[in-house]
Amino acid sequence: MQDWFDVAKKIESLVLEAAKAAGLDDSFSPEIRPADPRFGDVQANGALPYAKRQKSNPRQIAQTIVDQLADAPELAANAEISIAGPGFINFKLTPGFLQNWLVAFSGSEQLKQASAHLQEKETVVVDFSSPNTAKQMHIGHLRSLIIGESICKLLEFCGATVIRDNHIGDWGTAYGRLFYAYKRFLDEENLKANPLGELERLYKLGSQLASEDESVLKESREELVRLQREDPESMALWEQVNRHSIDGIKRVYELFDIRFDHYLGESFYRNMVGQVYEELEQCGLGEESEGAWVVFHPEHKRFATQPFMYRKSDGASNYATTDLATMLYRAEHFKASSIIIETDFRQKDHFEQLELTSRKWFEKTGRTFPKFTHVFHGTIMGENGKAMASRSGEPVLLKDLIEEAIERAAKLMREKNAEKIEKGQTPLSEEEIVACAKTIGTSSIRYAELSQNRTSDYVFAWDKLLSFEGNTAPYLLYAATRIKSIFRNIDADQLQDLSARASELETPEELALARKILGFVGVLQQTVEALRPHLLCTYLFELAGAYSSFYNANKVIVEDEGIKCRRLMLCQRTLDVLETGLGLLGIPTLERM
Ligand code: ARG
Repeated sequence: MQDWFDVAKKIESLVLEAAKAAGLDDSFSPEIRPADPRFGDVQANGALPYAKRQKSNPRQIAQTIVDQLADAPELAANAEISIAGPGFINFKLTPGFLQNWLVAFSGSEQLKQASAHLQEKETVVVDFSSPNTAKQMHIGHLRSLIIGESICKLLEFCGATVIRDNHIGDWGTAYGRLFYAYKRFLDEENLKANPLGELERLYKLGSQLASEDESVLKESREELVRLQREDPESMALWEQVNRHSIDGIKRVYELFDIRFDHYLGESFYRNMVGQVYEELEQCGLGEESEGAWVVFHPEHKRFATQPFMYRKSDGASNYATTDLATMLYRAEHFKASSIIIETDFRQKDHFEQLELTSRKWFEKTGRTFPKFTHVFHGTIMGENGKAMASRSGEPVLLKDLIEEAIERAAKLMREKNAEKIEKGQTPLSEEEIVACAKTIGTSSIRYAELSQNRTSDYVFAWDKLLSFEGNTAPYLLYAATRIKSIFRNIDADQLQDLSARASELETPEELALARKILGFVGVLQQTVEALRPHLLCTYLFELAGAYSSFYNANKVIVEDEGIKCRRLMLCQRTLDVLETGLGLLGIPTLERM
């Protein structure tokens, strides 16, 4: 059973062997995917692209593979094979196999072991959140933070070494105006209480004054020049401002229970820009254009004429320069095999040009270029269809968003509690309500974010994301607590050796639930390949649905020992998968709610 635990992986190796035996050449790849449930559990789609390349008939190719598979005795006992459409090979797992799998499945640790080969040996630097300093974190900062953290958890689960690096924007032109105001109008008390708020206030004040008064503008420009020359006094002030800024940012991260390994912002790379200038010029990539230095990519439709500027005409560096240096540092210092940067879709061009440029630069200088992925996301819309804003028209602050989510969740819990009292059930204590509200509130925001395809825009609607029905955090959390309550009401000795005492799965709902449970590893693989957490969310929602159908149609606590044990086993495995999956989304389950 052990090598069958990751069903997709096992079937992949059998298909590959069969293809070899059937005389297919090395270009054949099985392309294993979860199957259309009408036809099976696992599908091998490789016949079609192979046939296309060979200019032959895909169904015939599929048939030759299936003929070879007929000789694999261990397969016949575990799955029925059929061919559908243009040569898709479907594998439908037998009830006996489902039973053996569930019996062998011992919990979350085993899921992790089965997934560990997916990203084994990878060292991945994940650059996410990465806000600019001296600005409060608002709704526009939510997606990168939540998606980025979930990607880190997913990669870790699949065996990667993950380095969370916050590339904060801490070396921009905003500092001149900020320093001008900081030196004159700082409110010490407010800085302590709300560092980001106070810095933002000062920055706005400085900008306003500079726009009204020529002499302020001049003084703030001088501030900036002093900083960029690294004048000791300016640097000391810069460090102070940055410390406060990072303190403020960390307070928001704490609300989401998110931590970074490094805060290597733009400023960290300022001493490496000289090397970037030199190397890009020497290897012939950079060229001078109207006094600035740029890179063109002749093979690219747009970037053949749209320049990637990395040195401004006044000689100063920019976002591109520090990002080029960042690529090099991550590859050399962290020995990253893969680099992921998560931002808004508006930076797509920048990162495409960055990738093209650094790939060529690395190749020309004999360095190995790591895998690079720009993971991007769309916009969060308000219910009015415009980018989400607060009443004053400013973007909603993240700390206010969380606070509101927790308040709304608490109100909901109080209503549910009143219903419990009415029905004569044991209500939650005030302490439990407060703890539940915190988990439900933050989890609902997280889940609303992660359950959306990240490349699309989505509408942020409180009623929807806090609903106990539909693809939401409360629905999934509730499903988990319902299973837990079954186990709470049962003696521990009744749960001993469940799988040994379980009879064979029989009802359609039992079999459907077992199939769903088994699909976890395959879905995880898809999620990690596409770096799209919504695939996992959809799966968990369907799992909870399969459980609910099972539970409504099959009584769990019955006289018959064999039936009771197999159903309790299903409950336990469902809970294991549900908790593991939610954990990867940063959502802890609750005992009661
Ligand atoms: N600070 C940037 C922003 O707020 C995001 C930085 C992303 N990371 C990077 N290496 N460029 O848009």
